[in-house]
Amino acid sequence: MTYIGGSGRFRGARGGLDTRAGRGQAGSMATINELAPPYRVGYFVGSLSATSINRSLATALLRLAPQDLVFTEIRIGGLPLYNRDFDGDFPPAAREFKAAIAAQEALLFVTPEYNRSLPGALKNAIDWASRPAGENVIARKATAVIGASPGPIGTAVAQQQLRSVLSFLQAPQMNAPEAYIQLRPGLIAEDGTVTDERTEDFLRGFMGSFFEFIERVLTVVPKPRP
Ligand SMILES: Cc1cc2nc3c(=O)[nH]c(=O)nc-3n(C[C@H](O)[C@H](O)[C@H](O)COP(=O)(O)O)c2cc1C
Repeated sequence: MTYIGGSGRFRGARGGLDTRAGRGQAGSMATINELAPPYRVGYFVGSLSATSINRSLATALLRLAPQDLVFTEIRIGGLPLYNRDFDGDFPPAAREFKAAIAAQEALLFVTPEYNRSLPGALKNAIDWASRPAGENVIARKATAVIGASPGPIGTAVAQQQLRSVLSFLQAPQMNAPEAYIQLRPGLIAEDGTVTDERTEDFLRGFMGSFFEFIERVLTVVPKPRP
């Protein structure tokens, strides 16, 4: 499923810096965008449940995201268990999964916490994405993590563990804002509408920050001349 973020255009506060290739002023600090927006964002829902609150959260985030982010869900439920015996010849489901990740500029992880860690299905998917050695498709993707639980911890421990995995896989991560969502019944309607204004503002800000982070990761700032 591909979805274009729907809260109006969001260009971030760039203070007049020209972000397009070849347009920088000679002698001034210029930035060169390898890729201009819109940016492609693959997102993962760490739950396989048909009634997942994290899927509801993902739906809300897509609605609140800047228009210049284009989303594709990368599903994890159809993957077999990772086994390194397949490293020489991945099964079709794993090949398609890796190709879907490779086609993105950024990755968003929306995950529950299972037993103070990330769910096995999500870890399995990441293991496929990281292998065989030297063919890790998560490396250098701009990433963000967020999650929801019914309780007040809001997936904080799972997210820390996921961050550790993403660090090892050399994925730049948005450090702030962090987002640990306690999702009480009714907070997000079936269509993804957030019923609490403060939560809605927070989630909109989270996605705005992610847009800015992606842009920074994709932007080359040349060293000043000596
Ligand atoms: C196997 C399992 C382990 C869980 N462990 C935790 C946990 O460590 N921390 C927590 O806050 N909730 C835990 N929960 C409760 C989940 O937060 C809750 O089921 C939540 O709805 C899962 O997200 P989902 O609705 O997106 O599937 C656990 C649930 C399951 C099924």
